[in-house]
Amino acid sequence: MKTVSANGIQINVHDEGQGKPILFVHGFPLDHQMWREQFPLASDFRVIAPDLRGFGKTTVTEGTVTMETHADDLAALLDELAISEKIVLCGLSMGGYVAWPFHRKYGNRLRGLILCDTRAIADSPEAITNRRKLAATVLEHGTEPVAAAMMPNLFAEASTEKRREAIELTRQTLIANSPTGIAAASLGMAERPDITPDLPGIETPTLLIVGEDDRISPVEEMQGIAEAIPKAELVVVPEAGHMSPLENPEPVNVAIHNFVTRN
Ligand code: MLT
Repeated sequence: MKTVSANGIQINVHDEGQGKPILFVHGFPLDHQMWREQFPLASDFRVIAPDLRGFGKTTVTEGTVTMETHADDLAALLDELAISEKIVLCGLSMGGYVAWPFHRKYGNRLRGLILCDTRAIADSPEAITNRRKLAATVLEHGTEPVAAAMMPNLFAEASTEKRREAIELTRQTLIANSPTGIAAASLGMAERPDITPDLPGIETPTLLIVGEDDRISPVEEMQGIAEAIPKAELVVVPEAGHMSPLENPEPVNVAIHNFVTRN
């Protein structure tokens, strides 16, 4: 791990290996460790997995942190790491929400997009209310209630026994995160726009990955995104839910390896 000053904050980042760079962007409210099953890809590629602003050991900032701010942080991080060659950005869920503005603003830095278990639509009014409630709850009562509310939705039934350690590590990561950081990202997610109208204009080669039992970004919804993006392919991961790269890493790593090798 190292710490990099970028865009006015200190970003904690796992940076390992050589070759085509893959920038792994974690989901909410986790940190870079959710990609630990993908770290072996560093034998063939440069694996870069930061903690986003407000998470892990990266600087926490108050208020609302938009998906665009995260994208700006990541572009600045690449500059500081002196990465001028094109990258593949691989984002899960909130990491995918960050991929959309990254593509819009920094699309010339991308050789490919990998979108895992994510969504293109904006939040419904009800979801926005829930984001605000979550922000208020975490600030008042800490991270335990957030863990209690979120954990049951992250993993597939099949993982309950098979991926016990991964589930516990995920819970620990979530609980250890800063309430201020979690609140800021929750409010930021509530502000994200609907990307659906932009999907047909995405020329970047795109791989979509979804766990067959994802209850947050279901297969049919990811299929819709895959059909709307011209150069997209979809991989459905068996025995996995919303955390597919952690729950069933073997097929996910094969799909990522093939995609990055080809693009
Ligand atoms: C995530 O995994 O990043 C979250 O489920 C995203 C969300 O709450 O929409």
